[in-house]
Amino acid sequence: SQLTDVTLTSYCKTKESRDLIQRALMDNDFMKHLEQGQILTIMDCMHPTSLAKGCCVIQEGDDVRLNVVFVLTEGMVEVTKQGKKLCSIGPGKVFGELAILYNCTRTATVTALTDIKLWAIDRQGFQTIMMRTGLIKHSQY
Ligand code: CMP
Repeated sequence: SQLTDVTLTSYCKTKESRDLIQRALMDNDFMKHLEQGQILTIMDCMHPTSLAKGCCVIQEGDDVRLNVVFVLTEGMVEVTKQGKKLCSIGPGKVFGELAILYNCTRTATVTALTDIKLWAIDRQGFQTIMMRTGLIKHSQY
């Protein structure tokens, strides 16, 4: 299938970054239910990115194919839905997980309140990790 052709790329990280990402994933209501091996692989495959203050990180309603899951490491973002503020998110938190996990359009808009630094994994990588772990588990029986 298409998924088995995807090459997962791991990105070098300091112990500090690895710990921060792992803690963020374990702290998230949805991601924490993943297996430890999946969490470690997601962490391994996340790449660094940054955006300037005022940038739109996620646009509410955007198509599922554009999905990326983020872990914020520096700065603050704001979550809004139909123009109404839901909350602000600071370092050590996951966002952008809902649309990938539920295969839906983005549920809210996320805007950078300051310059921000993030770790990111795209939909293809994320799904490959979910899929491969499933296949590996399956083949053990
Ligand atoms: P996603 O729907 O992929 O993209 C928008 C993100 O905003 C969503 O994932 C969550 O990570 C986040 N989000 C949506 N609603 C809320 C909320 N009520 N409180 C905090 N974060 C939210």
